Amino acid sequence: MTEVSPPHEIAHLARVELFSPKPAETVEFFTKFLGMYISHQEGQSVYLRGYEDPYQWSLKVTEAAQAGMGHAALRASSAEALERRAKSLSADTSAEGRWHEDEFGYGKNYRYLSPDGHVLDLVWEAEHYQAPAELQSKILTRASKKPLQGIPVKRIDHLNLMSSDVTAVKESFQRHLGFRTTERVVDGDVEIGAWMSSNILGHEVATMKDMTGGHGKLHHVAFFYGNAQHNIDAAEMFRDYDIPIEAGPDTHGITQGQFLYVFEPGGNRIELFGEPGYLHLQPDLETKTWLMSDIDTGLAIGGAKLPWETYFTYGTPNPLSVEEHQKEFSTFGPAAQAAEEAIPDPIEESSAVANAPTDERIESVLESVDN
Ligand SMILES: [Fe+2]
Ligand SMILES: [Fe+2]
Repeated sequence: MTEVSPPHEIAHLARVELFSPKPAETVEFFTKFLGMYISHQEGQSVYLRGYEDPYQWSLKVTEAAQAGMGHAALRASSAEALERRAKSLSADTSAEGRWHEDEFGYGKNYRYLSPDGHVLDLVWEAEHYQAPAELQSKILTRASKKPLQGIPVKRIDHLNLMSSDVTAVKESFQRHLGFRTTERVVDGDVEIGAWMSSNILGHEVATMKDMTGGHGKLHHVAFFYGNAQHNIDAAEMFRDYDIPIEAGPDTHGITQGQFLYVFEPGGNRIELFGEPGYLHLQPDLETKTWLMSDIDTGLAIGGAKLPWETYFTYGTPNPLSVEEHQKEFSTFGPAAQAAEEAIPDPIEESSAVANAPTDERIESVLESVDN
């Protein structure tokens, strides 16, 4: 039987790789609007970091045919914790992974797939970013100067994974990585969302149900401002410069996180996160369960509407562009959820195959780092 992970074996979310069919525009979005620094370039990838990200990079943008998440990496709290977590995962045949050392600025990684097909790495060794003299901040906890560009984000914050089966993904994070589920949403007997953390933050990783039946997609990556006003300033900036805003600024009831959702030019959804939300300092927290009857408060305290035609149905990769997806799903709503005919053919066809954790896909993901 697999041992259940003790808490605090995972420290935090260290990095995410985003695929983009428009890599130059995606990089421009993160540098020009969000003030991220480019720290490295290699092959088809550009590596970026916010001014308080502690490592060489927190975001890698890689050119690809479709948007999506290449992988995400969680940093363990010690070398021993990494070994223990990898051992726990590899004892579970569906999470068996492979060690690799091919990520710039990081040591050895344990790569595996979530029960829904998301590609995940665990890592301990991480090179701390050392700013050159001209970028050194006088504020000692700040890894580099605050840039004079756009509305700059401090660091990566969290990850939200769309899943065909929320419970399976949640249980994998709890069992193997020691995450606590801080909050969840149920629709009758079915979990449709779970917010999980390995530290005091309300969530480092969340997972929400893919209403189109897809597997292993990215819902969004969030970057941290730590300040509500920055979300308002960013919304003005995005409005003026034609970056499509999906929803916000407003505050979720779930996590009490302040949100602003936009689509970067490659098609991935990005969240800007204001203040940190509710901090779980107590060691014996009870998971809070939201019911559908209270979902409006859970989603947005201030009444912002998270659109059914994108928020609950659009993840990446996606065979449709954001605009095409919006059009196809314009009649899709809570009442139509069960109606199969509401899901357009291109989505239905890709849902069945894209990112599903089939033996063939697991093999090909793990083969790609086996060098
Ligand atoms: Fe989020
Ligand atoms: Fe959010």
